[in-house]
Amino acid sequence: MSNRIPRVELGEWCYLQGKAKVMQRMHLRDLADDKERNQQLTFRAGPLLLDLSKQKMDEAILTGLVKLAEAVELPKAIQSLVTGDVVNNTEGRSALHSALRLPKSATLCVGGQDVVPAVHHSLARISNIVQRVHSRQWRGFSGRAITDVVNIGVGGSDLGPFMACQALNEFVPEAAARLQVHFVSSIDGTQLADLLGTLRPETTLFIISSKSFTTIDTLSNAHTALQWMLKAIADKDLVVAHHFIGISTQPQRMSAWGIPEANQILFWEWVGGRFSLWSGIGLPIALKVGMANFESMLAGAHFMDCHFSEQPLVSNLPVLLGLVGVWNATFLDIRAHAILPYDGRLKYFPSYLSQLEMESNGKSVDKQGVAIPYSTCPVLWGEVGSNAQHAFYQLLHQGTQAVSSDFIAPVRRYTDYSDSGEAHKSLQSQHQLALANCLAQSRVLMLGDASTDSDANTPNFKRYRGNQPSTTLLIDELTPYTLGALVALYEHKVFVMSVIWDVNPFDQWGVELGKKIADKMTQALVDQVVEGLDASTQYLLQKIASMAEKGEQA
Ligand code: F6P
Repeated sequence: MSNRIPRVELGEWCYLQGKAKVMQRMHLRDLADDKERNQQLTFRAGPLLLDLSKQKMDEAILTGLVKLAEAVELPKAIQSLVTGDVVNNTEGRSALHSALRLPKSATLCVGGQDVVPAVHHSLARISNIVQRVHSRQWRGFSGRAITDVVNIGVGGSDLGPFMACQALNEFVPEAAARLQVHFVSSIDGTQLADLLGTLRPETTLFIISSKSFTTIDTLSNAHTALQWMLKAIADKDLVVAHHFIGISTQPQRMSAWGIPEANQILFWEWVGGRFSLWSGIGLPIALKVGMANFESMLAGAHFMDCHFSEQPLVSNLPVLLGLVGVWNATFLDIRAHAILPYDGRLKYFPSYLSQLEMESNGKSVDKQGVAIPYSTCPVLWGEVGSNAQHAFYQLLHQGTQAVSSDFIAPVRRYTDYSDSGEAHKSLQSQHQLALANCLAQSRVLMLGDASTDSDANTPNFKRYRGNQPSTTLLIDELTPYTLGALVALYEHKVFVMSVIWDVNPFDQWGVELGKKIADKMTQALVDQVVEGLDASTQYLLQKIASMAEKGEQA
């Protein structure tokens, strides 16, 4: 056993517990008017501004959190991460997503080998495919150019590329204007069935994205897609050569599926699935927005990597965001965290973060294998903020649940000032409305009744609790570069929280079990009676069998 002191026995941890007891007796409105604190709790890195002034903390607490980070050797952990040490202790792997954004001139030796040439060889393969599809050189079996790309993947092989493609829809180059990029992930086949009815086999290119190339969700969708293609022309080799690309760490499995080597893009075991959109998994992004914009996204992430590994903790945005996350979840015991982008282009950022945060830090055993006695990752969800105001904000304002939030807002939008049309002016005023709502909502969540004209006669059902902490993250404007910086900010935030909590953020044993049980249950649906099954599941299997017979009542 290492001579490491358990987190809860650290002096810095106990200090923060004492501070938390005091803070829990206070209301955010008691902190709101200290102008000093606003200066002290707002930080800038390139195109991003992080405002922590609506968090239930003061400078002493922030200093205490930084001291805790130093006590658990966070700076050393950051250097271990970015230099390729084995930080994923249960799988014996590095986690080098930052290497995917290194410039060609960089070198990074892992196990005696410089990984940068392989990274840029992969980028060259991505670029070559993008160029061939955009220039209409890539032809289908009948000689027609590709009009539709379908990415088949799930989890990290879907959420990141999908989120980025939606966020950067305004950055589609002329060469890609006619190309439609689609995403299919769900195992039930609904998305694929809906989509195939709108596509032509001869002009459709499928990308099978799967780090393991064993995920049944992806392989079952890929099988259905192949059968659909073979209905058009019953020649598997021809169909796969012209209409299927594989992205994986498993070349043998891709070849066994029938994907020729020329159609394979490899990535590496040291790239976690939920950290992989910068690798070949990002091919759909590059096909959608072009290689230049994809490289700009990589550059934005690289900017944040440099900031993360060079900035002192006290002015380091991922560190600060991570420390606030730990303060809220562990010390203030706030077990729900909302991601609220006030920009429809970031609609899918919350669901991307759900995997990134909860699959990384949804852990209850530390890196020594000891059960953790404190709260770790909160439940994280979200929606475009202005829409969420018509969905779950009632709970935030008048419910019983403490919730912390991240408000995310690009400041500049609709900046084509050459367009003086009424519709464009109207869009600009809509963007102002979004910003106004962002500020208004975070203010009411902080102040509660103090932000309204309520008085002693206001009935309770009209009162606002307030005291709900939030971070506001302003982005100069949403571009491939700033999206890359934003995503990398949260990747590193997740890592910071994992170090404070002493968990491994790079494995996901909790989801591996589900995959195994599903295989057994698939067979059980056929056999209907399976030894060793619990009574509840056995009963449902039998009901499903009887309900599957037409006319049987439940
Ligand atoms: O959810 C479990 C998981 O392994 C994720 O970590 C991963 O992103 C997803 O399944 C898909 O895995 P693969 O890319 O290997 O198909």
